[in-house]
Amino acid sequence: MLRVGVLVSGGGTNLQAVLNAIDSGEIKNAEVKVVISNNKSAYALERARNHGIDALCISPKEFENRTQFHNELLLKIDEYRLDLIVLAGFLVTIPEAMIQKYRNRIINIHPSLIPSFCGTGYFGLKVHEAALARGVKITGATVHYVDEGTDTGPILLQKAVEVKEGDTPEELQKRVMEEAEWVILPQAIALIAKEQEEKA
Ligand code: GRF
Repeated sequence: MLRVGVLVSGGGTNLQAVLNAIDSGEIKNAEVKVVISNNKSAYALERARNHGIDALCISPKEFENRTQFHNELLLKIDEYRLDLIVLAGFLVTIPEAMIQKYRNRIINIHPSLIPSFCGTGYFGLKVHEAALARGVKITGATVHYVDEGTDTGPILLQKAVEVKEGDTPEELQKRVMEEAEWVILPQAIALIAKEQEEKA
């Protein structure tokens, strides 16, 4: 059984897609053991509680410095003995120690076709504003492994989405989430869970 932890900062629609995929059987042999947010009012925490999943808030604001926050985050994560950590709109930098300790066991969902529109400063609506400003006809989403860089780790899955004439950033964001993010993030977890099952 793949023990999964999900790190969130916002509404949690990607988390919800994962929970729905586990409930429907699309994802087999995986269980979300904990959801952690840096933002106590993240609706994603409510989604976790509604699903009977431990929902923790670990906010940098509660600590004197970033190092103490990082230490607490890693300590909590270690407690759950996770096989996979999923960053689903987690807007806080991951401590290097965590990347080293969980090498190739942290994945992230990014709302563009990496290497386009990614890296520092490209998150949320800004990604779609940049895609529209550049005039791309196709965008999409990417699931990649997390390394020390920003959106630079090995790509696992991608899915393309058409940009429509007159799209606003909000409309494009919604289409990319519905048609790509909510599809490939569950698929990625299903793949990793299957791989673990086959190795067992
Ligand atoms: C998504 O657009 C995801 O691509 C990005 O952050 C957003 C999270 O949305 N990384 P939600 O909290 O899953 O609704």
